[in-house]
Amino acid sequence: MKEINLSTKIAVYPLEECSGTEKKLIEAAKNATHRAYAPYSGFSVGAALLLENGEIVSGSNQENAAYPSGLCAERTAVFYANSAFPDEKVVAIAIAAHHKGAYTTDVITPCGACRQVLLETENRFQSPMKVLMYSEKGVYMANSIRDLLPLSFGDEMLR
Ligand code: THU
Repeated sequence: MKEINLSTKIAVYPLEECSGTEKKLIEAAKNATHRAYAPYSGFSVGAALLLENGEIVSGSNQENAAYPSGLCAERTAVFYANSAFPDEKVVAIAIAAHHKGAYTTDVITPCGACRQVLLETENRFQSPMKVLMYSEKGVYMANSIRDLLPLSFGDEMLR
């Protein structure tokens, strides 16, 4: 028997130490939470993507009475970005959540399905995206969605 150790490095920044571009993206994600449609969970999520051309595209979670028909903020944003700007790399994504009248004090991390979709976008453009996960206490930063999805399944396996 042998073991494989998989390690992930996440940087944790106080908001004040984030760059101007990072702060702007986080602000866009926070603003997007207020455009969520989340009558069932009351958990409003915002995601903002920075594209290579400098454009910021945001999305929010959109729920449905038939629960599985809803969509997370990250996929709403990335599917919109990829359909409106199909040739633009996604350079970074910021994610924030608002719950019970306040932004969360725990970082909001993308769900498994969103990680898989974000990985597809990285693979499609052959370019890693920075992932900024916001909380009122600080920001988690990963250099690639791969850091959040070890042993991932990707298109290379279909070849
Ligand atoms: N949600 C997101 O939009 N993104 C995540 O990363 C986690 C969960 C949404 C889905 C649902 O509308 C609500 O948050 C509660 O799960």
